[in-house]
Amino acid sequence: MFELTEDQLAVRDAARDFAQIELLPGVIERDEKQQFPVEQVKMMAKLGFLGMMTSPDYGGGGMNTVSYVLAMEEISKVDASCALIMSVNNSLVCWGIEKHGTEEQKQKYLTRLTSGETIGAFCLSEPEAGSDSTSQKTLAIDQGDHYLLNGTKNWVTNGNSSGICLVIAQSVPELRHKGINAFIVDKDSEGLVVGKKENKMGIRASDTHSIMFTDVKVPKENRIGEDGFGFKFAMMVLDGGRIGIASQALGIASGAYELALSYSKERSTFGKPIAQHQAIQFKLAEMATKIDAARLLTLKAARLKDEGKTFVKESAMAKLFASEMVQQVTSEAIQIHGGYGYVKEYHVERLMRDAKITQIYEGTSEIQKIIIARELMRG
Ligand code: CAA
Repeated sequence: MFELTEDQLAVRDAARDFAQIELLPGVIERDEKQQFPVEQVKMMAKLGFLGMMTSPDYGGGGMNTVSYVLAMEEISKVDASCALIMSVNNSLVCWGIEKHGTEEQKQKYLTRLTSGETIGAFCLSEPEAGSDSTSQKTLAIDQGDHYLLNGTKNWVTNGNSSGICLVIAQSVPELRHKGINAFIVDKDSEGLVVGKKENKMGIRASDTHSIMFTDVKVPKENRIGEDGFGFKFAMMVLDGGRIGIASQALGIASGAYELALSYSKERSTFGKPIAQHQAIQFKLAEMATKIDAARLLTLKAARLKDEGKTFVKESAMAKLFASEMVQQVTSEAIQIHGGYGYVKEYHVERLMRDAKITQIYEGTSEIQKIIIARELMRG
């Protein structure tokens, strides 16, 4: 089932080379300075990493989700911030528009997102609606030929750097989730203001902001799907997004593991390389086993998605397992490095900080368990 094709291996190798050559130099500085990777994102666009799964009709690579997972793993090994920017653009914004948008919406927005002219953001969370995403306070009131958008979104990845947002908002509060709509909103719309940048623990080179909407006019043709489709749209988009986050966690873990393996062969104690000590070998063996298990779960979810089968449970399982696993693996990678692991030059401390968010965004671990359990109960 997981024999990779030559094309998939070529994508993986291209992503590996790009990450090692273009992302590795400067990754520590970008993290430290919270510097958005402007040039690196342009290069990702040029190499086709911003619209990997989008049809070539809209400037995308027309690749499957398995190839996307392979590329995400390689990029996350080196620079989890770049991987996140790529993930939101690919699996939330481009995929959401391509799968559920009208032909006009695809023509108007997708090429801009795949070419790197701009990138996308996904605006669902609110100050009081994170996990409980049916409780949307942002209102989008129908005014005939347009909606009037008012409210605040937060934790928006690509919050400042994006030019196009997918915004989830409530149009008919009495209808609860059935009153929610999703819209494509241009960032230069009048009344849209980007709030302050969050000073984060990890993925510091990606820009996370709140966004405020005050009487923003959104043309009716920018609504995605039928009236009231917005909540289901968000849930379905997040199902795919979780494969991206699982791949990110997988990549952070394999990056930390590879650094620990190589360090353990170089560093000697008690007269031999530490890799010769059983205490270190046990750690490496456990790390490699857990990473492989996460990779199999992630590829399984990706394969099901590519085959058009349901993957709700599998994407939640992959994200849950990979995001828990990466906490342990990055911590052990620091342990193997000893004191050197605690300083920035050796990269593993950054990987450990970057790992934490994978248990939180696109649904916490607890939310993934709710999703998995519901699917299990459904039988
Ligand atoms: N696919 C299709 N439909 C779905 C669905 C799915 N995966 N999940 C739910 N639905 C449908 C249900 O079938 C139901 O429809 P009907 O009323 O027609 O039966 C409807 O949606 C409501 O579903 P629930 O009753 O299950 O809704 P709930 O309120 O109990 O919520 C939840 C379920 C799983 C907790 C959901 O709210 C959830 O996933 N929360 C987490 C959200 C999240 O991930 N937020 C952060 C994302 S943004 C981000 O991370 C920022 C970034 O930039 C990266």
